[in-house]
Amino acid sequence: MDKIEIKIKAQKESSYPILIGSGLLNKVYDYISDYTDAKKFLVVTNDTVYPLYGEKLKSENSEFIILPDGEIYKNMDVMSRIIDKALEIKLERKDAIIALGGGVIGDMAGFAASIYQRGIDFIQIPTTLLAQVDSSVGGKVAVNHFLGKNMIGSFYQPKIVISDTNTLYTLSQRQYKTGLSEVLKYAFIEKSCMSMNNYNLFDFLINNKKEIMDKEPQILNKLIKICCELKGSVVNKDEKEKGLRAILNFGHTYAHAIEKLTGYEKYTHGEAVSIGMKLIFDLAHSVESISDKYYNDAIKLLYDYDLKMDIEEHFDRDEFYNVMASDKKVSDSKINFVLPEENYKVVIKNNIDKNFVLQGIK
Ligand code: NAD
Ligand code: GLY
Repeated sequence: MDKIEIKIKAQKESSYPILIGSGLLNKVYDYISDYTDAKKFLVVTNDTVYPLYGEKLKSENSEFIILPDGEIYKNMDVMSRIIDKALEIKLERKDAIIALGGGVIGDMAGFAASIYQRGIDFIQIPTTLLAQVDSSVGGKVAVNHFLGKNMIGSFYQPKIVISDTNTLYTLSQRQYKTGLSEVLKYAFIEKSCMSMNNYNLFDFLINNKKEIMDKEPQILNKLIKICCELKGSVVNKDEKEKGLRAILNFGHTYAHAIEKLTGYEKYTHGEAVSIGMKLIFDLAHSVESISDKYYNDAIKLLYDYDLKMDIEEHFDRDEFYNVMASDKKVSDSKINFVLPEENYKVVIKNNIDKNFVLQGIK
């Protein structure tokens, strides 16, 4: 088992662990007990994950709420059912909510934990690759509003994250690749993450492609650890996204618009992100902020991992732009773009000509 600590500078370096390894679900309550005084747990999960892993979390002190599966259910109405259940089972302030599932469950359960009785302990048990490398780390919790993605939420750090890599073997290939999309994101932003370590994730992804696609346990552990450490480094310095943390949104300005305009059903979040990363590399290449070589290498990596890069539908260009302009990544009415630079660095720019922005939107 690997263990890394996520430290938050603004909270006097208060920290929480991420445990990464195979079979961790068998001992969840042993691991949790060191990080919470909770006597009762509300496990939030969905009707896909519960039949697979619900049994592992059953105990005399735990109750379950099983939500419908899907991004379309990541909303206030469904989230409020978690609150209803917490009240019904008389969950107290010292008790805890556990998220067992992917990013949708983690985001919703975390938001519920952040507002129930002004905040109770929250534990993340991510079961998708995307959730293990990204959404369970760093404390962003939210639900969608019909006018925009993740528009209602909090920054609320978990007490502990337990990533059992065995859960990744029941993931569909499509959902596994969805997670790989966020993994590649870290490779493209690595040198801006201000990490003490130098992973060369880009090369790691090239050199270990077969092992990663085959979910070879040791490589998988290492990959998840690298991503969590890179994200931890960013979140440590900028928990509330006043600056640096925005780099984690690489590709997301396009992605959130694509997700919203396709009703959150056509593309997974990771698919929208890989399309968004392709669009932003095209944009950077057009404005000549990256070399032909880096552009070709980056697109080749996306291609080699067989990630989605093409948009299948036609969007109204003005509508697309307006949706991007209503995203949370807008400040002073300007759309912030995280643009790639050479050598796995990125830069945030907000003065990009609309025609360049929309060049890939037909
Ligand atoms: P998801 O939660 O919808 O899970 C994907 C699918 O896999 C679902 O059908 C789910 O039921 C199923 N599933 C989960 N675990 C499984 C398992 N072990 N075996 C088989 N099936 C399993 O999607 P996701 O990709 O995990 O997360 C996407 C969400 O995360 C989006 O809402 C996105 O906005 C959010 N997100 C949040 C952050 C953050 O920092 N909070 C970061 C990135 C993404
Ligand atoms: N996924 C973006 C962030 O956590 O900030």
